[in-house]
Amino acid sequence: MGFGDGKVVDIHTHMYPPEYVKILESRTTIPLVRSFSGSSDPRLILLDTEVPILEEAEAAKSRGEVPTNIPGRPLTKHYSSLNQKMHFMETHEIDISVVSLANPWLDFLTAEEAGPIAESINADFSRMCEEKCGRLFFFAALPLTASQEVILASIAHVSNLPYCRGVILGTSGLGKGLDDPDLLPIFHALADARLMIFLHPHYGLPNEVWGPRAKENYGHVLPLALGFPMETTIAVTRMYLAGVFDQVPQLNMLLAHSGGTLPFLAGRIESCILHDGHLHHAGTKPKKTIWEVLSSQICLDAVVYSDVGLKAAVQASGPEGHERLMFGTDHPFFPPLGSDEEGEWESVTWNGAAVRKAFGQKEGGEENDKVRGVMGGNAVKVLNLRRDGCR
Ligand code: URA
Ligand code: ZN
Repeated sequence: MGFGDGKVVDIHTHMYPPEYVKILESRTTIPLVRSFSGSSDPRLILLDTEVPILEEAEAAKSRGEVPTNIPGRPLTKHYSSLNQKMHFMETHEIDISVVSLANPWLDFLTAEEAGPIAESINADFSRMCEEKCGRLFFFAALPLTASQEVILASIAHVSNLPYCRGVILGTSGLGKGLDDPDLLPIFHALADARLMIFLHPHYGLPNEVWGPRAKENYGHVLPLALGFPMETTIAVTRMYLAGVFDQVPQLNMLLAHSGGTLPFLAGRIESCILHDGHLHHAGTKPKKTIWEVLSSQICLDAVVYSDVGLKAAVQASGPEGHERLMFGTDHPFFPPLGSDEEGEWESVTWNGAAVRKAFGQKEGGEENDKVRGVMGGNAVKVLNLRRDGCR
């Protein structure tokens, strides 16, 4: 079976609109943006693991010294500039991008701020898509710290924006995780509006897990390579155990980083449920198996950088699993360190090569239908990425 029309689609690609960067610049706790001598770009500081280095750098700055260790990552124009996003797409022959606000979205706003800021940020994304008619679509951000009424109004608003195809969601939900019963009306509203939830990690695992050597020696490797995927795995498993997929059967999710470790651990989750005395006696086992959920309500991105993980992702997603997998880049995160950022990024070429290898396409050989599907056809179909009337 053929898919789409041979377009390459990036469904995992972020931006921080200038308004969002201004908010980060005004903050005193993470997430924040700070400038330090010793770094030509301002630094974007997002993660808990970066706080000790931030504190040392601030202390050095207040003594008028150049910090030895500069926290966070450089906030380059790749994060906010639409021209830069388009340049990145041209460089890598990406036809369509489904952009989303990067983490931690609006999670840190007060209840009063969240509604109006969500509206304005979503309007920014909508304008960008409008300007690039047919090349860009977006996942909206929700004002999750506001009241349920405001959140539901935001869902109604974004569902009417012509280029919105879903919402990006972190794992904290309303503050208690995604198995919180108070989220059910929100999940129902998203399902009714046919908005896909793009689930993306941010919080990782507690710092202690990484051990005392992490701060000085291991950079961001442990929280990003392991903390992020575990966070996603735990969040979805909690939703599954709480029966969310049974109660909201039309809910559709796209999981970042090929579902974390969910494809690899699904069998173990299933077995632990089968052998759990508490669930057995209480009769609270989920009705659908995790395999049924994976093959009907969950799509996975292909941002896992290796054919090994991709094969697990396809197999976990059922007999038509190759139709539920979608290429992504995670731009503007993971820029090349040893070459020009205006050129090719390994984060793109590695993910593309992994897709081709997973589906048996030979080096320089012709693209097969499965590769075409994962590289773009699936996204065009699942997210309905067609826009007529573009010049
Ligand atoms: N990728 C993201 O999307 N966010 C991060 O913070 C790091 C990598
Ligand atoms: Zn991402």
